[in-house]
Amino acid sequence: MKIIKAKDYEEMSNIAARIISAQILMKPDCVLGLATGSSPIGVYKRLIEEYKENALDFKKVKTVNLDEYEGLSGDNVQSYRYFMNTNLFDHVNIDKKNTMVPNGISSVELECGSYEERIEKLGGIDLQLLGIGRNGHIGFNEPDEYFAARTHVVNLTESTIEANARLFESKDEVPKRALTMGIGTIMKAKKIVLIASGEDKAKAVKDAVCGPVTPHCPASALQLHRDVVIVADAEALKLMP
Ligand code: GLP
Repeated sequence: MKIIKAKDYEEMSNIAARIISAQILMKPDCVLGLATGSSPIGVYKRLIEEYKENALDFKKVKTVNLDEYEGLSGDNVQSYRYFMNTNLFDHVNIDKKNTMVPNGISSVELECGSYEERIEKLGGIDLQLLGIGRNGHIGFNEPDEYFAARTHVVNLTESTIEANARLFESKDEVPKRALTMGIGTIMKAKKIVLIASGEDKAKAVKDAVCGPVTPHCPASALQLHRDVVIVADAEALKLMP
């Protein structure tokens, strides 16, 4: 694992965006695995700026998102499809037909199987961007007794529901289930970039990097991947030895 220390959220975002731009420049028809949440918003802003400066072309880029809430359609403002459209896709020249987010209102079990197949058909993910939950979750892979291999439906933990409630009117509105790529799906990506900002991520980052590889900290699986870059700010790295 390579760790890049940024001074703050902005620097973290700029560095991660440069890694993603390099990927697009080297392989204009690459498959990007994308994430939602507060962490990647700055990365997407920077990518939009680069596109507007004519430094980046999304014409042939394909994207697959990590996860989606069950029961939310793409036009629901809380859905991850809506998030991706408004924070990135609507502002660059990507063909929306080339963007995949799990469908939260379909028959979700079937959707999980087909999502996995569609990723394989694209030839796999070239670069996967990840945030990290306070409990060490990646995508919506919550701490568990085992690592899930494939895209699946999960019951969200109380801690994740609480953390994500800030984006909803009330905690009761946060869906209780979600569809997420499995740890196996994520580990098949050729390159992984995990971003983390803020003190509330410090324990999760330390456990992921220095702790045992265990499904109780899903991000710890990344220790077994051969090309992971963690871009984190000083606060998120403050518990690192
Ligand atoms: C959600 C998402 C994750 C994300 C995590 C952290 O649960 N499913 O993909 O990494 O939250 O979010 P944030 O970046 O807002 O802290």
